[in-house]
Amino acid sequence: MDVELKHETKLVKIIKGMKAIVITQYGTPEALQLQDKPDPAIRPDEVLIDVKAAGVNRPDIFQRKGNYSAPPGVVPDIPGLEVSGIIRECGSDVKKWKIGDRVCALIAGGGYAEKVVVCADHCLPVPASLSFVEAASLPETVYTVWDNVFRRGGLKEGEHFLVHGGSSGIGVTSIQLAKSIGAKVYATAGSDEKCKACLDLGANVCINYNVYDFDKVFAEEKIDVILDMVGGPYFQKNMSIMNEDGRLVYINAMKGSSVELNIGEMMRKRINITGSTLRSRDKRFKTALTEEVLINVWPKIDSGHFKPVIFKEFLLKDAWQAHKLMEDGNHIGKIVLRTE
Ligand SMILES: NC(=O)c1ccc[n+]([C@@H]2O[C@H](COP(=O)([O-])OP(=O)(O)OC[C@H]3O[C@@H](n4cnc5c(N)ncnc54)[C@H](OP(=O)(O)O)[C@@H]3O)[C@@H](O)[C@H]2O)c1
Repeated sequence: MDVELKHETKLVKIIKGMKAIVITQYGTPEALQLQDKPDPAIRPDEVLIDVKAAGVNRPDIFQRKGNYSAPPGVVPDIPGLEVSGIIRECGSDVKKWKIGDRVCALIAGGGYAEKVVVCADHCLPVPASLSFVEAASLPETVYTVWDNVFRRGGLKEGEHFLVHGGSSGIGVTSIQLAKSIGAKVYATAGSDEKCKACLDLGANVCINYNVYDFDKVFAEEKIDVILDMVGGPYFQKNMSIMNEDGRLVYINAMKGSSVELNIGEMMRKRINITGSTLRSRDKRFKTALTEEVLINVWPKIDSGHFKPVIFKEFLLKDAWQAHKLMEDGNHIGKIVLRTE
């Protein structure tokens, strides 16, 4: 609905409502359809963002299929966990941002839209060197990697770090950040082309798991921290290559979440097995993580030690094609939607 207001001599046009991608039914990518939606309502501690770009993440696919519901209080049928754009409105309690600021933000849903409301404390400035598309590709993966590799995993300079799915959005982020602190980086990926991309991003070693068994190739490497999204069949192999006091961190279990643990092996090596999901965490946790990312990761963008890896951009209306591309599994890095 358009409302026209006469403002002295100027004609001001206020656009009410927005376009958004809606999950019309659980299932195939074609279920993602562009629809008219009302503007999201803003709370005192939130900002309303005119979205320029929205990152696509694997959890969006799980949500579209009906396997990953939005947490309570979050718009249930519009996917999207990260956006970039320009602040259009600030809630009454917001002090740190003003209308017109360029930000990117972590959100728990609703990002595939022209407008979104976000807790002001979960926004970060768009780095000067980055486009909106590049900035939109960062929050979900950077926060996840910072929390799991550096906070939970406690990765330190000189340690050996292995990431499975090295060419994924999560993979390309963790390779670069682990390398930037002086860790030795190992990765696995599903093709030689993906392995080359991991090496180009700074991995010391990357193996094509369709050709080699990673537990045999890395048997003597004494891995200190593993970031795993595969689960099931990788569990025992991961355990076998871990160093003493190693940390095995899960962010998904795409190939199965039930495993058999040899408690003796865990005790002998003093292995810490942990994991987390980001989306359902509370406001305070995400605020603290935002502050850590701003201090620890954002300077690495300015210094050139960390860069977004964009595989392909789509217009918002073509979100279904973006999902199709992600499900085909041949991408390297991130897929991003643009609103214009
Ligand atoms: N816990 C959290 O808070 C959190 C947050 C964000 C993401 N995640 C998880 O992190 C993972 C990566 O996310 P992303 O957004 O970076 O996704 P992505 O770019 O699509 O990466 C997924 C990777 O998994 C591999 N893969 C694809 N299909 C697979 C299948 N059917 N079985 C096994 N492996 C498959 C692919 O690598 P290969 O071709 O090399 O196998 C691909 O690079 C996802 O599992 C996602 O759910 C967790």
